[in-house]
Amino acid sequence: MTRWLALREPEASPVLQLACRAQHFRRWEIPRSSYPMTRPGYLTWRAKLKSQAAKQVAELLADASIQPPLSQEEIDRVAALVRKEDLKTDSDTQVLEDVACLVFLDEQFDDFEKRPDIDEEKMVGILRKTWGKMSPSETTITPPHNLPSQKPPLHTLLSTHDFAHAASLTFPPKTHAFVTSAATDLVTHRSNSHTYSLITLRPRILRDVSSVSIHTTILGEPVSSPIFAAATSLGITVHPEGEKEIGRACKKLGVGMTVSTSASFSVGEIADAVRDCEVEGDAVQKEIPLWFQLYVGKDRSKSEGLLKQAVEAGVKAVFLTVDAPVPGKREADERISASEAGAVVGVVPMTGEKAENDKSGGGLGKITDKFLDASINWGDIPWLRTCLPESVKLVLKGVQTAADAVKAMEAGVEGIVVSNHGGRSLDTATPTVLVLLELQRCCPEVFDRIEVLIDGGVMRGTDVFKALCLGVSGVGIGRGILYGLGYGEEGVRRYVEILNDELETTMKMCEITSLHQVHPGLLNTRAVDHLVPETVDEEHPYAKWRPSMRKKTV
Ligand SMILES: Cc1cc2nc3c(=O)[nH]c(=O)nc-3n(C[C@H](O)[C@H](O)[C@H](O)COP(=O)(O)O)c2cc1C
Repeated sequence: MTRWLALREPEASPVLQLACRAQHFRRWEIPRSSYPMTRPGYLTWRAKLKSQAAKQVAELLADASIQPPLSQEEIDRVAALVRKEDLKTDSDTQVLEDVACLVFLDEQFDDFEKRPDIDEEKMVGILRKTWGKMSPSETTITPPHNLPSQKPPLHTLLSTHDFAHAASLTFPPKTHAFVTSAATDLVTHRSNSHTYSLITLRPRILRDVSSVSIHTTILGEPVSSPIFAAATSLGITVHPEGEKEIGRACKKLGVGMTVSTSASFSVGEIADAVRDCEVEGDAVQKEIPLWFQLYVGKDRSKSEGLLKQAVEAGVKAVFLTVDAPVPGKREADERISASEAGAVVGVVPMTGEKAENDKSGGGLGKITDKFLDASINWGDIPWLRTCLPESVKLVLKGVQTAADAVKAMEAGVEGIVVSNHGGRSLDTATPTVLVLLELQRCCPEVFDRIEVLIDGGVMRGTDVFKALCLGVSGVGIGRGILYGLGYGEEGVRRYVEILNDELETTMKMCEITSLHQVHPGLLNTRAVDHLVPETVDEEHPYAKWRPSMRKKTV
């Protein structure tokens, strides 16, 4: 331990050196057979063990024989380090974790390639997990062995489904659960995608489609594709550069990006990464629109501060998320302890929250819950307006009915995103493309007065095309961008380029050359028309019952 500490942190304080020596205190005395066999059991047991070790170390250090004597403050600090409190937010604790991981890699994996009996898959899993616990700078240290790569080479990925598959092979289990999970039975998550496939295309023939353009504008900003990166949180769970890397990819693609309130970097840091990213060639946009996704916090002054930061960072619009006053129940994410990602996630810079387990599990999605103000309502829109200069547009993200689309329009926002959070909020909520049809049927004026965007379940260029035909100006991608991020900036670019290519092919097959020519007549929606409400009315079409009508029986 001390050898690695000296390499890793030559100037380590005496307290850190002591903690380093105490790191494995008494651990080797425990026979392997007494480890609890289940994962939750093991994690609780290990936490207890750390606590016990910290206590014993503190007792030892307080002993009169230790000369010169240590102050109580120093003793407490060593114990806290051994307990690994505030991992990731405390640089000394992270150093200790890095050192422990390096020792582990050095001792346990030195000759693992030479051992014929090895269960390679298991070992690779352990290696990946160990790296997940280390700080980004340490993970760049080349390990003394070649990690067999399960990652399919990027050029072999030909569809968005291939990316989802690659993510399932390579993301650490907690990251995979966090990214892919959706609310309860995943009905909305699946039907977001499935409903697109029920809408069929009506290709036309014999028009010159030798060249097509997918350049367009979203919220008044020119972009080279209608596809944009939807707001996603905790990008660092996928890639050490998280949202900064997504931003670089978007800049190179010339597409818009939404920065989440729960991003792993501040909006200013992400904007700087985008600004500093060099773009070659003339064909792409030199500037891309950055939008800021806002979760309103319980402390409104904090939200005002965030908006100020976002405006200073140059965002062109604020997307207020309205479909998640509380986080959805995502069981896959809940099932895996938050501590599996806690070290990587650390404290979310813009909300100040960190990942923790509670009585319902370890869902990372709940990181926003502690911060979120569920009392946010229509009356808050004027307040939000006062926080923004006139040049910054306001968009409601998560509109799911015609009635609310009309209300949004009347409230004076510049746009809405038809979204159900990718099925992550409320299961069995309506698939987004159906909501789009509802808006077209019940309140078509919305499309003339404000901009309508959409996200959820978009996996093919044909899906993008169908949404465009139904009146949207932009199509957001959530999970897919994170699948691409598994390969860094290049992966995000390839993901979007695949969709762009498919969109261009669809346009050519439908005999249009520009996005100005899309219209609903290119679609046959009959298979789903019966599912689309007929009025903007908030009432059910025939069931008028109310609890107050129930006869009093006693
Ligand atoms: C891992 C992950 C994190 C997300 N974080 C946020 C967030 O912080 N704020 C937000 O408004 N939406 C968030 N979303 C929802 C996306 O913005 C978007 O609505 C959704 O992912 C679109 O569906 P898709 O994943 O099927 O493309 C998140 C989605 C995922 C998958």
